[in-house]
Amino acid sequence: MQDNQIKALRKIEDVRGSLVVIEQGRDVPFPIKRSYFIYGTSPDEPRGFHAHKQLEQVFVCLRGKCDIVLDDGKHKKTVKLDAPDQSLYVGKMIWHEMHHFSPDCIFAAFASDLYDEADYIRGYDDFVKAVANMRKDGE
Ligand code: TYD
Repeated sequence: MQDNQIKALRKIEDVRGSLVVIEQGRDVPFPIKRSYFIYGTSPDEPRGFHAHKQLEQVFVCLRGKCDIVLDDGKHKKTVKLDAPDQSLYVGKMIWHEMHHFSPDCIFAAFASDLYDEADYIRGYDDFVKAVANMRKDGE
């Protein structure tokens, strides 16, 4: 899971405030086809609990914070997004869960493709089976 890391975004600060840049190719390793935002969150209402077959995403907490569980079917880790100048890349076939959202959180996602329910794996057992099949096929 070495690609699925928190990365610092470029921040330009002056007396007027801070400006953070997200550029395709530099900060996001794919052409962005879709963005979406999550807000009105609660610490007791986790989200995610799925993997994508092909979709790649970059997550940024524009405000507030949350913990993100990442699982490649073999290794599991939890990372914290708690600053607007941090991004997290989540590649395809990574089970992800977002926990402990702060109530003020504005969670932004930048995605490599349009919304497609057929690209989701929403059952953890199905995910583990799909990963095992991928490894068997040498992917
Ligand atoms: P989902 O991806 O399951 O959200 P989360 O992982 O944060 O819990 O999406 C929630 C609902 O929103 C689901 O019915 C699909 C719909 N949706 C869209 O219509 N378009 C989108 O771009 C996204 C991300 C979700």
